[in-house]
Amino acid sequence: MGLSGYCVLFLFFTFAVALDVHLERRNLRHHVFVRNSDMDKGFRISKRSLPAWLAPTNQHTINRRSADQGDTCEALQGYETKLAANTHSHIFNDLSGSVSLAWVGDGTGVILALTTFQLPFLMIKFGQSKLYRSNDYGKTFLDVTELINNTFIRTEFGIAIGPENSGKVIMTGDVSGEQGYRIFASDDFGNSFTQHDLPFIPVMQITYNPRDANVLLVTSNHNQLWLSKDFGVNWVKIHDMVCMVKWGPENTIFFTSHPNGSCKDRGMLDLKRTTDYGKTIKTVANNIFSFGLGGRFLFASVMTGKGTLRMIHVSVDQGELWNMAQLPPVGHEEFYSILAANDDMVFMHVDEPGDSGCGTIYVSDDRGIVYSKSLERHLYTTIGGDTDFTNVTSLRGVFITSTLAEDSSVQSVVSFDRGGEWVPLMKPTNSRCDATAKDPEKCSLHIHAAYSTSKQLGVPMLPLSEPNAVGLIIAHGSVGDSISVMNPDVYVSDDGGYSWFKALNGPHHYSILDSGGLIVAVEHNPTKPVNQIKFSTDEGQCWGVYNFTNEPIMFTGLASEPGARSMNVSLWGYSDSVFSQYWVSFTIDFRELLTRDCGDNDYVPWLAHSDDISDRNDGCMLGYKEKFLRLRKDSVCLNGRQFKVNPEPTPCLCTLDDFLCDFGYFRKENSSECLEQPDLKGQDLEFCLHGKEEKLMTSGYRRIPGDKCEGGETPTREEIDLRTRCVSDMVGPELQSDVLKSSSSAAIIVTVTIVMLLSIAAGALFIKKYVCGGRFLVHRYSVLQQHAEANGLNGDEPLETDHTPNGKIEFHNDSDEDLLE
Ligand SMILES: *[C@@H]1O[C@H](CO)[C@@H](O)[C@H](O)[C@H]1NC(C)=O
Ligand SMILES: *[C@@H]1O[C@H](CO)[C@@H](O)[C@H](O)[C@H]1NC(C)=O
Ligand SMILES: *[C@@H]1O[C@H](CO)[C@@H](O)[C@H](O)[C@H]1NC(C)=O
Ligand SMILES: *[C@@H]1O[C@H](CO)[C@@H](O)[C@H](O)[C@H]1NC(C)=O
Ligand SMILES: *[C@@H]1O[C@H](CO)[C@@H](O)[C@H](O)[C@H]1NC(C)=O
Ligand SMILES: *[C@@H]1O[C@H](CO)[C@@H](O)[C@H](O)[C@H]1NC(C)=O
Repeated sequence: MGLSGYCVLFLFFTFAVALDVHLERRNLRHHVFVRNSDMDKGFRISKRSLPAWLAPTNQHTINRRSADQGDTCEALQGYETKLAANTHSHIFNDLSGSVSLAWVGDGTGVILALTTFQLPFLMIKFGQSKLYRSNDYGKTFLDVTELINNTFIRTEFGIAIGPENSGKVIMTGDVSGEQGYRIFASDDFGNSFTQHDLPFIPVMQITYNPRDANVLLVTSNHNQLWLSKDFGVNWVKIHDMVCMVKWGPENTIFFTSHPNGSCKDRGMLDLKRTTDYGKTIKTVANNIFSFGLGGRFLFASVMTGKGTLRMIHVSVDQGELWNMAQLPPVGHEEFYSILAANDDMVFMHVDEPGDSGCGTIYVSDDRGIVYSKSLERHLYTTIGGDTDFTNVTSLRGVFITSTLAEDSSVQSVVSFDRGGEWVPLMKPTNSRCDATAKDPEKCSLHIHAAYSTSKQLGVPMLPLSEPNAVGLIIAHGSVGDSISVMNPDVYVSDDGGYSWFKALNGPHHYSILDSGGLIVAVEHNPTKPVNQIKFSTDEGQCWGVYNFTNEPIMFTGLASEPGARSMNVSLWGYSDSVFSQYWVSFTIDFRELLTRDCGDNDYVPWLAHSDDISDRNDGCMLGYKEKFLRLRKDSVCLNGRQFKVNPEPTPCLCTLDDFLCDFGYFRKENSSECLEQPDLKGQDLEFCLHGKEEKLMTSGYRRIPGDKCEGGETPTREEIDLRTRCVSDMVGPELQSDVLKSSSSAAIIVTVTIVMLLSIAAGALFIKKYVCGGRFLVHRYSVLQQHAEANGLNGDEPLETDHTPNGKIEFHNDSDEDLLE
């Protein structure tokens, strides 16, 4: 694969699971923290973070301090000795070009580090691997290479970590000399491994059944689908000519296959399903171009039979019944992409014709059938490639992405209501507009995300947010009328993206620890060795600087346990003198820096999405508001592993805006009322509902998925049967009997279709050290290897790139469910 010649540091992560200590809510008396809110009038940001009701008087205390302004931050004093006593370095007597890290289990402190030395030789890969294991969060490592019998492990298949806290690990190795493959499997958190020879050549990472970690699935180089029910001991072939495979809910396996052609013959594929590990296999759809799973939805792009056009069909019952989604069809050069999905709804990107680099985002209803246009000119460049779309996991309903302006500049926008409205990001209070701004006073913040990292603009990390660090976002950005390619700085928002401030000058690697109670950052400098780590206990306002070593290292990346609950962070890098080259990691335990556990007085209540308490709908988002207890900025204390985000939800009164217009209805501009589309009847509709059993009665309104409003305004209108309004040659009666047999076209099509987001339980961090062409480091987060199988199978183009919204260490607690339910 394309990685040969590079040295790669992969970091694989599993995800952490939940906690259960309840933090009691207390009223605060003092220590009111209020944002300096000199908002730009030019933008339509309707809600601010300013919790006015928290202010004791009208005079707002401004407590924001910035390190850039040279303010002293007294809370942090005398930390050097404490940290020095808790810094552990480990030198790896190892010259390998790459290191892969994997956390095994949750809160176990077990890390596996696999180093690989690899040379591409006459098409044969030759290499050597070493395995190290830590059980104290990386402070010390033992060389356990004998556990893998000195086999060359294929890093492109990664270290496959089992679901949940199963403690299972699989590594795929090459039996040197022979043309065989072997796996090393552990079910005791990497303490011991047993080896099993594979009766085939795998082309992807071995996948676990998320419900039963003993059941493994993989495709071979001959497009065969192999399954093991006993954790890799015995393997059976369950199908031939398999193109793409995914685990579904329960023990369901979905895959596409071609009856007798090749996987390149897209649009001719069958979508098949088995629920008994291959004993019985049912074809659930034909003429499939591609398929994807998101939330509880199964999507397939199906050839329409009209030339090369295809459309999205959706099923919520594992493919028994399908409906055509009310989305525009696309041709062979365009693509669909699932940007994010959960059980309620899906964000779908539909590419525009032509090589425009952009398309339109649609948001679905609860059935996945009716879509509303959410954002036009949404930047999404190469096929299956780069989009900045980011689910801000630290606040419900917040998403950030980029648009392509008419002048081809890239501009960031944020939505606080799950795609309802998109607005520019507010200018940070302590930043000036750069040269891209026409008006030096009026401009906005632009966030660097996947697009910038792919263009190698010196952005080492994607935006970072964590569900347990409420409201916190850390991201690289620039301030102006559009994204600037000049050196990016680090910006922080503590209110879910409403307001921002510049936290650090220049690009950095960053990591969230202790549920947001601690942030660490290391300067990104590809040419200069580093010896300093910065840390902040007040969400990025004041930064302490600590020299973790006297001998600076070429820094490659930060690594901390996924889930942002750890207090241990590791800095990985290598020493780079001519005579001694070796990997080194420094692990710093910040526990002693925070001398006490947080008590009730350390938390203040915070109403999300709020700016005006006198408005009783203030803070309402999808029909309810949520109050959180958040750590006070000046509290230097430990949230602890058991910290639990404890939102207090209260329902809001319904308005018409809590409803979307159903199929056949529309809203006039500036009006909330759904009107009947007058010209619907008699028209050839491109989209029509035609479920077989579904009741198609509608009053024109449909509650927005996930909206929990109560009382208030509820639309009352006579229900009509939608089916009477559907007159379409595309969805005629014969299609209603089996909509998926509608196509006879045999177009050969090569593009990507559904790109799953939020579908991964593990993310990967690629840090490339270019050995050829000088000592220069490129750090970038990249899409995951997990679904490189699609590439492997289809050969020539970048297909089906499963990628993480934050691209980063993405390990949503619920991502598996997002994918599989
Ligand atoms: C290592 O490989 C050899 C030869 O394949 C085998 O005999 C031996 O049992 C293996 N050892 C381990 C620990 O798997
Ligand atoms: C598959 O093979 C059969 C017979 O071998 C042939 O009739 C059919 O057209 C082929 N289908 C495709 C899609 O190539
Ligand atoms: C966004 O992330 C949050 C937190 O992880 C999750 O609960 C939500 O379902 C995600 N939204 C979508 C549309 O995927
Ligand atoms: C920390 O390292 C920097 C150089 O990177 C040096 O200038 C500074 O004096 C060091 N500080 C301490 C306290 O050793
Ligand atoms: C940090 O590492 C130590 C082991 O060295 C472990 O005992 C401790 O629990 C870790 N702290 C956190 C918060 O994970
Ligand atoms: C809708 O409201 C906006 C802003 O209030 C206004 O500029 C626009 O003209 C209105 N459109 C219509 C059709 O009334």
